[in-house]
Amino acid sequence: THQWRGIIEEYRDRLPVSDSTPVVTLREGGTPLVPAQVLSERTGCEVHLKVEGANPTGSFKDRGMTMAISKAKEEGAKAVICASTGNTSASAAAYGVRAGMVSAVLVPQGKIALGKMGQALVHGAKILQVDGNFDDCLTLARALSENYPVALVNSVNPVRIEGQKTAAFEIVDMLGDAPDIHVLPVGNAGNITAYWKGYQEYAADGIAARTPRMWGFQASGSAPIVRGEVVKDPSTIATAIRIGNPASWSYALQARDESGGAIDEVTDREILRAYRLLAAQEGVFVEPASAASVAGLLKAAEQGKVDPGQRIVCTVTGNGLKDPDWAVAGAPQPVTVPVDAATAAERLGLA
Ligand code: F0G
Repeated sequence: THQWRGIIEEYRDRLPVSDSTPVVTLREGGTPLVPAQVLSERTGCEVHLKVEGANPTGSFKDRGMTMAISKAKEEGAKAVICASTGNTSASAAAYGVRAGMVSAVLVPQGKIALGKMGQALVHGAKILQVDGNFDDCLTLARALSENYPVALVNSVNPVRIEGQKTAAFEIVDMLGDAPDIHVLPVGNAGNITAYWKGYQEYAADGIAARTPRMWGFQASGSAPIVRGEVVKDPSTIATAIRIGNPASWSYALQARDESGGAIDEVTDREILRAYRLLAAQEGVFVEPASAASVAGLLKAAEQGKVDPGQRIVCTVTGNGLKDPDWAVAGAPQPVTVPVDAATAAERLGLA
């Protein structure tokens, strides 16, 4: 029997690993590319969702983390550190366990979803809540990695980008070519950088005939790339992308400009609307930040910026279970019934 072996074994010849690299894996990648019927109807396009919440720790971060932790182990690191809005820390904690390493994580105080905190805790990470935002956490993590024996596994570590580019490979492998447009949420801007690298590599080697236009979406309260300036006090309900000074800012601009793409913003209201549409009409439960890609596509379509007939892939980056508060908030409380079929049938509208 065969199962997906994880991104390092599946794409070994396209990654900076050798026979002496210890592969630390949870068999990440190989995630579903799901046709999105309602989004396709709304846009007149062929829309697919790359469901990255199906990764082992529930987000796309696992693709980069298998690389970062494997390379850190190869180099003899005993401990790793990251700044995180939650998903990177969950992933670093889990892969740290596999590698027998200590994982230290720095998170913005009070601003990470409960599920992600639970992951870091249960995997035994050393967690510090920092009295600051993600950008402050990253500054601190960099300083610690420069001055103490601990390896930095944020996406400023280039092997993270190498791992994450494999999502673009999977999409081309599945569709037979790159899509016309690829849509992503943008926070620290590592992922848009990684996809663009992946698409370019496949095109350069003739595996894809073209590259897509890259469309990135930031949350309005945390949209430094759209504004063209650092946002000092970023805010959004999509805590995963609550970032005011993205580390890969210039690479995101490169991806946008070289691909003929765009980076725009979506409001929290638009994010939540897309979040609910994905769950209620496509059957795909994502976390709020992930819905920024779909919110952006819908906004662009409403503005008449989406020509019909195109093939579009939206990455939905993380699993909805990480941050279920938004699923419960505003939803009606289920009614309680006695153990009685007639009453239950009546309440369910069956009778
Ligand atoms: N979606 C989710 C669910 C994320 O967790 C992140 C980033 C992004 C989108 C944005 O990706 O940063 O590459 O532009 N999360 C990081 C973290 C910052 O710490 O987990 P990006």
